[in-house]
Amino acid sequence: MSAAGPPLVKLTIDGTLVEVPAGTSVFDAARTVGIEIPTLCHAQHQTPVGVCRVCTVEVAGARVLAASCIRHARNIAHRRAGQARGN
Ligand code: FES
Repeated sequence: MSAAGPPLVKLTIDGTLVEVPAGTSVFDAARTVGIEIPTLCHAQHQTPVGVCRVCTVEVAGARVLAASCIRHARNIAHRRAGQARGN
C-alpha cells in the first residue's frame, strides 16, 4: 500500500522556486518560503472567498492579476503585484 500524497507542483514566486502539493494556493505556497502576501478577506483556517483582491499576484502568461488566496499553484511563475518587472 502506498502512502503517496497528492502530486507536487513546482512554481517560481519572485524568483524563488517553491514545491508544494497540488491544490495548494499560491498564497500558502509563498508562505512556505517566507514570502508574505498581504490579505484582507482571507484568514487562516477559514475558507477563502477571494473578494477583496488585496492578495493579487501576476501569473506568467495570464492576462489579468490573480487572487493568490484562491488560485491553485501550478507549474508556472508568479510575482507579487506591485513588484518591479525585470526584462
Ligand atoms: S485576500 Fe481577499 S482576495 Fe485574497
